[in-house]
Amino acid sequence: MTTVDATQHARSFGAAADSYARARPGYPRDAVDFLVGDAARVLDLGAGTGKFSQALVAAGHEVVAVEPSTRMLAQLREALPEVEAHEGSAEATGLASGSVDAVVVAQAWHWVDPGRAVPEVARVLRPGGSLGLVWNVRDDTVDWVRQVWDLAQRGQEQEMRTDTTEVGPPFGPAHRFGTRFEHVTDRAGILDLVASRSYVIVLPEDERRDLLAAVADVLDGHPDLRGRDEVRVPYRTHCTRFVLR
Ligand SMILES: C[S@@+](CC[C@H](N)C(=O)[O-])C[C@H]1O[C@@H](n2cnc3c(N)ncnc32)[C@H](O)[C@@H]1O
Repeated sequence: MTTVDATQHARSFGAAADSYARARPGYPRDAVDFLVGDAARVLDLGAGTGKFSQALVAAGHEVVAVEPSTRMLAQLREALPEVEAHEGSAEATGLASGSVDAVVVAQAWHWVDPGRAVPEVARVLRPGGSLGLVWNVRDDTVDWVRQVWDLAQRGQEQEMRTDTTEVGPPFGPAHRFGTRFEHVTDRAGILDLVASRSYVIVLPEDERRDLLAAVADVLDGHPDLRGRDEVRVPYRTHCTRFVLR
């Protein structure tokens, strides 16, 4: 992907903020506990519509959210008025130095420039604080899941660095944790999930319509889904945590 393409994709989320908020899964509690431990004040960086912020609030943490897209941020503010929310990026958060106990980047580290984001995250953390990276990845060994996402990706998917093994100094080595969960949704939810993908958002309207029609054909025709209201999407959650030295 070229730099222009990557920037266009990274900025595309705002255009699909509604689909995003409705369709994307949340995060399991064991992942939250691994990533932030007993940190009091946690920065959700690249917070989007607040999926991870919501999990942090539910687990009793004080949450600061930073997100570059004003539309995503508007959804977050509406859904989670108790969260302190700021426009900013991983490279320039706008937060005070040493002001948070932990930082989590949920499903967004692959969009950032690590060369600028790592020192910025280290700056806003208190001594001994940690950076957590997390990605939900669909379990493509399930046949209908593979069919739907083969269509949705069409080889255009930006590879997600779910296996980030180091971020470098001043952070220490990676600590890893994996878990599984199912996101319970329905036919419309799957169509929203596909529509909220950055690659699909930026397609020309006719190609986007054709792609969503092809996905609808799988949903209506696959023997595991036909006639069902509820659809369960299996996910694996990959977590990595780095402690500030
Ligand atoms: C896949 S979404 C994840 C949103 C949210 N964390 C979640 O788990 O649902 C990726 C998010 O990264 C944001 N993003 C893109 N470039 C970024 C950057 N340089 N710094 C911080 N966030 C960025 C996008 O605006 C978008 O909200």
